[in-house]
Amino acid sequence: KPPQHRKGTFTDVPQELLTELKNLEELLTITPETLIKITDHFITELDKGLSKKGGNIPMIPGWVLDFPTGKETGDYLAIDLGGTNLRVVLVKLGGNRDFDTTQSKFALPKHMRTATSDELFDFIAECLKKFVDEEFPEGVSAPLPLGFTFSYPASQNSINEGVLQRWTKGFDIDGVEGKDVVPLLQASIEKVQVPIEVVALINDTTGTLVASMYTDSEAKMGLIFGTGCNGAYYDVVKDIPKLEGLIPDDIDAESPMAINCEYGAFDNEHLVLPRTKYDIQIDKESPRPGQQSFEKMINTSFPAKIEEDPFENLSDVADLFQNQLGIQTTSAERKIIRVLAEKIGERSSRLSICGIAAICKKRGYKSAHCAADGSVYNKYPGFKERAAQGLRDIFKWESKEDPIIIVPAEDGSGAGAAIIAALTQKRLKEGKS
Ligand code: GLC
Repeated sequence: KPPQHRKGTFTDVPQELLTELKNLEELLTITPETLIKITDHFITELDKGLSKKGGNIPMIPGWVLDFPTGKETGDYLAIDLGGTNLRVVLVKLGGNRDFDTTQSKFALPKHMRTATSDELFDFIAECLKKFVDEEFPEGVSAPLPLGFTFSYPASQNSINEGVLQRWTKGFDIDGVEGKDVVPLLQASIEKVQVPIEVVALINDTTGTLVASMYTDSEAKMGLIFGTGCNGAYYDVVKDIPKLEGLIPDDIDAESPMAINCEYGAFDNEHLVLPRTKYDIQIDKESPRPGQQSFEKMINTSFPAKIEEDPFENLSDVADLFQNQLGIQTTSAERKIIRVLAEKIGERSSRLSICGIAAICKKRGYKSAHCAADGSVYNKYPGFKERAAQGLRDIFKWESKEDPIIIVPAEDGSGAGAAIIAALTQKRLKEGKS
């Protein structure tokens, strides 16, 4: 259930604050008409991203050229470089739409987000060595295949490369932008002499898509709602004009191709998103002003915490403001803060589903499971209900049950990366590009 709106009484709130609140509420309201307008522009931008000329949204072909069947088998390593942790996973694919995972999390030292390229990849390699030594005390007979989940915009001309376009989500490590991160990681792995071969580079959304399709044949999209907001889906090679001349002869024009949209960058030109002066200020004060306009309107934990506080006394809100910001609040102010947090949460959920709606319309999906992961999806109070309502407002379904629904995803950066590594090895064995 979305948090209760306005349960408290507002008799202690001065009239001028109530008027100001009403203005702000209007400013943060996203009407069904606005959602439809944003979705229509989104479709144009998805198409532009696939064109030769390109657009705001990178629409990166991920070179995953098969659908998972659920029958993939074998042992694979997977790593996921997140904002706070490096996760290392050993995945055993069972071949019956099932898998087992064993994992370790290594805290990413704070300075690592702005360290040097060598420091970062050497750190990852050391963690991998520790993990492999522990899991395989007798050693391994053949190099372990590894799927590397790298959740930043990275251009790919094949599955085992990824040239970082630019860091997002507050990462800022010199000397990596413009470089292929696979050889950088492989070189650090050689240094610690652990038998691992990086076979695939994967975006978290693509991993989420593939992992979810492995277990759910209705899954059509992999989505992350977290520090970043992004989605992946399968397009068809012949419908991706920018691939012309880049496709090896043995790949059929009808072949599926996973696309990492990178739609966190949607509307960097500011044509349709209803940005307020507060959005503009957040962007200005961010590490990369002007970039990732869409996702900057969606993430943050502070209003989520405010909404978690039941409306009755708002003592958690009082503590939060006092302890984190050094601001003492009155009871009236806390009510205003709470209502605004609800509006901010509602706005973010409604905006965030425009990518889903656009992909469904573009691909003509009348029904779909959209597999979602990330802290906003999993933890933000009311997100799921508000997101579902946003989709209803766009599609105006008459049926009792929503045909397009957001469902919890399978583990994209563990199982997903492993399945993609398995699909890659299968193609290699069959002599395919
Ligand atoms: C950012 C990254 C993107 C990632 C998303 C979710 O948008 O650029 O690659 O998929 O965050 O983690």
